[in-house]
Amino acid sequence: MMSYPVFKVLHLIGVFMVLVSLGGLIVLGAAGELNHSRWRKLAALTNGIGLAVVFLGGFGLLGLLQLGWPWPGWIFSKMLIWLLFGVMMVLAKRAPESGKYLWWGSLLLAGVAAYLANLKPF
Ligand code: HEM
Repeated sequence: MMSYPVFKVLHLIGVFMVLVSLGGLIVLGAAGELNHSRWRKLAALTNGIGLAVVFLGGFGLLGLLQLGWPWPGWIFSKMLIWLLFGVMMVLAKRAPESGKYLWWGSLLLAGVAAYLANLKPF
């Protein structure tokens, strides 16, 4: 049985993978290098695996917290943030001109996710 700290480390490794890959794709887009398939593919692969690891780690933690249904608002908000990170990856590819907003937006969303997880305001 995986312990709580192990799930949390897994969850955070997923978060780091999502942030580094999104940042990489944003910079590729801003530099007009999205056709650089090797780096683009590495960013997409890291992001996909990262989102899955965030999800697995998050649900592992959720299971051990035994919160019962319906889950509190902070959990639903974090799931929405998780979805938004997926959308931002698509935007970084399809609309590289929005890079600056994605850059600061991803940092803001990650900060909100950390706040929600630690303070559980609702
Ligand atoms: C499917 C979506 C997600 C679920 C179900 C989920 C669930 C959780 C749970 C249950 C915790 C533990 C809270 C506690 O220890 O009391 C947690 C911690 C955390 N989550 Fe998530 N999460 C999700 C997505 C995200 C995303 C997208 C991010 C950031 C980009 C994120 C960042 C964090 C952080 C920073 C912590 C705190 C770790 C710490 O205190 O050491 N989570 N999450």
